[in-house]
Amino acid sequence: MSQPDGEIDGRRFRDVLGHFPTSVVAITTEGAGQRPEGMVVGSFTSVSLDPPLVSFLADRSSGTLPKILGAGRFCANVLAADQELLSRKLAARGTDRFDGVAWKPSAAGNPVLDGVVAWVDCGIEQVVEIGDHFLVVGRVRDLRVESAKTPLLFFRGGYGDYFSTTSLLLDQLIGW
Ligand SMILES: Cc1cc2nc3c(=O)[nH]c(=O)nc-3n(C[C@H](O)[C@H](O)[C@H](O)COP(=O)(O)O)c2cc1C
Repeated sequence: MSQPDGEIDGRRFRDVLGHFPTSVVAITTEGAGQRPEGMVVGSFTSVSLDPPLVSFLADRSSGTLPKILGAGRFCANVLAADQELLSRKLAARGTDRFDGVAWKPSAAGNPVLDGVVAWVDCGIEQVVEIGDHFLVVGRVRDLRVESAKTPLLFFRGGYGDYFSTTSLLLDQLIGW
């Protein structure tokens, strides 16, 4: 049942929007004392080619957002299908998210996680308050595809893998 304007129930909003699949991207930065910091987002997107801009949305309650803003830079790490446990670790609260996590610093000093599909290293260009989130726009400084692995996806509250219809078809036809 639809409701009058401005009275969208939060549970229904989450449920319906949960039917929209997203990528799973770890936003990392360098915190105090060169500590790696990070959070998982499903809201990463490319914004502009010229100038090269990307963005993500952070909840206003995020404890990691002030660290990202303090550093003035971040790296967007596109997680691979075999990195569900890493995603759970980096989205958990009250734990050392980087305990046992392998990474190397980018040229700017942001953590690039081992085993990701690709990464995009950015300086913060703009931060816009929108509703209960902040839109963080990054200007791309460096970027690279790291592997041919398939990406981790999030859909209807659960993780999944990506299958190309072309490769499924080729598999059926010629056992490729
Ligand atoms: C698949 C997935 C997508 C998420 N997307 C976002 C997002 O777009 N923005 C956000 O602020 N938090 C998102 N979260 C929650 C954060 O990963 C994290 O749990 C939350 O920010 C709390 O940590 P923080 O206080 O360090 O930010 C997502 C979590 C998961 C598992």
